[in-house]
Amino acid sequence: MSIFDNVAFDRHERVAFCNDPVTGLKAIVAIHSSARGPAAGGCRFWRYDSEDAAITDALRLAQGMSYKNAMAGLDLGGGKAVIMAPDSGELDEPMLEAFGAFVNTLGGAYITAEDVGMSVGKMEVVARRTSYVTGLPPKQGVAGGDPSPKTADGVFAGIRAAVRYKLGRDSLDGLRVAVQGVGSVGWHLCQLLFDAGAKLIVADINAERVALAREQLGAEVVALDSILESDVDVLSPCALGAILNAQSIPRLRAGIIAGAANNQLATDADGKRLFEAGVLYCPDFVINAGGIINVACEYAGDVSDAVVNEKVRAIGDRLIQIFELSDAQKRPTHIIANEQARRLIGRDDG
Ligand code: NAI
Repeated sequence: MSIFDNVAFDRHERVAFCNDPVTGLKAIVAIHSSARGPAAGGCRFWRYDSEDAAITDALRLAQGMSYKNAMAGLDLGGGKAVIMAPDSGELDEPMLEAFGAFVNTLGGAYITAEDVGMSVGKMEVVARRTSYVTGLPPKQGVAGGDPSPKTADGVFAGIRAAVRYKLGRDSLDGLRVAVQGVGSVGWHLCQLLFDAGAKLIVADINAERVALAREQLGAEVVALDSILESDVDVLSPCALGAILNAQSIPRLRAGIIAGAANNQLATDADGKRLFEAGVLYCPDFVINAGGIINVACEYAGDVSDAVVNEKVRAIGDRLIQIFELSDAQKRPTHIIANEQARRLIGRDDG
């Protein structure tokens, strides 16, 4: 399929391909916008059914990064890399080095970071071949490392803001929160919620993760197909995209949706469905920006953890502004956020 005809194509500035016969690396970098600075966004290692599926994912995720970085007030554009998992399923060191060399050929137009399937250790291997890389081990008191805890901090700030706005309360004590996916972000978020006195309901395909949440955080574990319809105050999707759709929305019982997963709405119509059902939806690319804020500070060099924390906490205020505009204009929160983001990157002409 032609890239220009792809449903996810939104005047992306550049799409680069790497097909390295020596290591077997097949990777794609999509740069959506560099209006605010060099494009930054994670690298996803994933088993795609086809090359088209990988291209679509890279295009969609790169656009999301433009929105996220702009809304977080960062001087960064939006981009994303995907690495297509080989038949072996292994991402070995030579492939990671080849990926680093590929990123380096872009001369700083794209700065890579961790995403699904990557880790601090893997980023260190990538860094052997390029300096346009983040997510490296942090130095004492300075930004860096695994961005997931900061993403969780931002989601927690977002939950606080949404609860204050919709339920008129500051304390999370006794609040019922369902977390879908207790991986890197979900686990940190559960710890923060537990410490704040919230009651946790969790589900994950990984039995060990939920067992840990039950033992250490007193979480109630529910079946994968029933977590979305849990009788809770807040639903926090921290696993997959597209889980808010025509089938799931009528079954939701939470009044607030505030989670880390990217692209939670299957379609724009689903954001409208939530709005009409009176559910307060925290736009994903606003609430899950904690990790990229950390990445941006790491890349800028020598930014203290305290500065990162302050920027991450500001996610709550940003959401409140979106909720207020949504109420005043009687329009869904995701539309308000999309429009704000497009304006910030000079794409408010459609
Ligand atoms: P992760 O891979 O560490 O955790 C995801 C968890 O979801 C895993 O424990 C997995 O077993 C579970 N899971 C998968 N399918 C599931 C299903 N059907 N039902 C319930 N659980 C399921 O990923 P991570 O880093 O925690 O990210 C979570 C989400 O947040 C992803 O969508 C990611 O794109 C997004 N995100 C992550 C950021 C970060 O800093 N790690 C930053 C911004 C967004």
